[in-house]
Amino acid sequence: MKEKILEYLNKGHDYLSGDQISGHLGISRQALWKHIQDLKDSGYDIVAVPHLGYRLESRPDRLFAFEVSRGLNTRFIGKKIHYFDYLSSTMDLAMQLGMRGAPAGSLVLTESQTKGRGRLGRIWFSPKYKGIYLSLILRPEILPQASPVLTLLSAVSICEAVKKVTGLEPQIKWPNDVLIHNKKIAGILTEMNAEADKVNFVAIGIGLNVNNDKKSLISQATSLKEQAGTQIDRLLLLQELLRRLENNYLLLGDKGAKAIIEKWRSLSLTLGRHVKVYYQHKHIEGAAVNIDEDGTLLIRKDSGIIQKVSSGDVVHCRQ
Ligand code: BTN
Repeated sequence: MKEKILEYLNKGHDYLSGDQISGHLGISRQALWKHIQDLKDSGYDIVAVPHLGYRLESRPDRLFAFEVSRGLNTRFIGKKIHYFDYLSSTMDLAMQLGMRGAPAGSLVLTESQTKGRGRLGRIWFSPKYKGIYLSLILRPEILPQASPVLTLLSAVSICEAVKKVTGLEPQIKWPNDVLIHNKKIAGILTEMNAEADKVNFVAIGIGLNVNNDKKSLISQATSLKEQAGTQIDRLLLLQELLRRLENNYLLLGDKGAKAIIEKWRSLSLTLGRHVKVYYQHKHIEGAAVNIDEDGTLLIRKDSGIIQKVSSGDVVHCRQ
């Protein structure tokens, strides 16, 4: 009902009397008053003027599930949204939901995390109402070893959404860090439940620094607000991200990994550079010449030998 009230107030843009609204929605004046109080408590600025009625002045900066669904127009991503003010980690819940059979496209979304986690056991700092923290459940019909393409697809989708909404042009550091001016704005963590030859489901975790202030960020990180010099609409950005994720996922189904890899290459900050890759207490140095369809990075060492690396931490050296 609250969604309907907001929809109706939004259409009017001007004062609407309590009688008009309750008549239109088929509820009592008293029930309307109660819903309006609840909406105000959630941060909606609704003014009530005697003899004139109600007017919606502004919406809060919140990623409420019904706001995300409004005008999203996706086929399956975000059809089911589990939204929380805080969680330990969206990954924990997404993995549980996946085990319980949650449909593909289900989204776990939170305003903050107390134990947000990153790759390689790192912490993902997740301050309230500043970022986008989500886990998306997918059930791709691919072999487990092909799953890294989903991470590449997610990095591409983040770059596309950020560009569309902010005009900024992020790039990707292999395998899945999204950077602007060499500072990290987003990270992706993919967890999978699979058998030897079958993926049951994956949870793609995305953390995006949106409106974080500079002083709250470590020196290697940045936020869209810091880069754009203005507050960013998290809701618009999230919706665009979900649309891009869906489009790229469908592209993967239609055209295969090649189409995603091509997009990834065009956004890559790593390819063509001299890099050091740290992995399993070792490191390898050389030119990052390409990535395979399974997301493996190909490094040409000074000896000319090409070595493949499937995971690790990249440091970009000289051009
Ligand atoms: C990384 O760059 O190391 C990956 C960071 C992934 C962070 C996101 S935030 C939403 C989801 N929940 C988590 O606990 N982690 C991922």
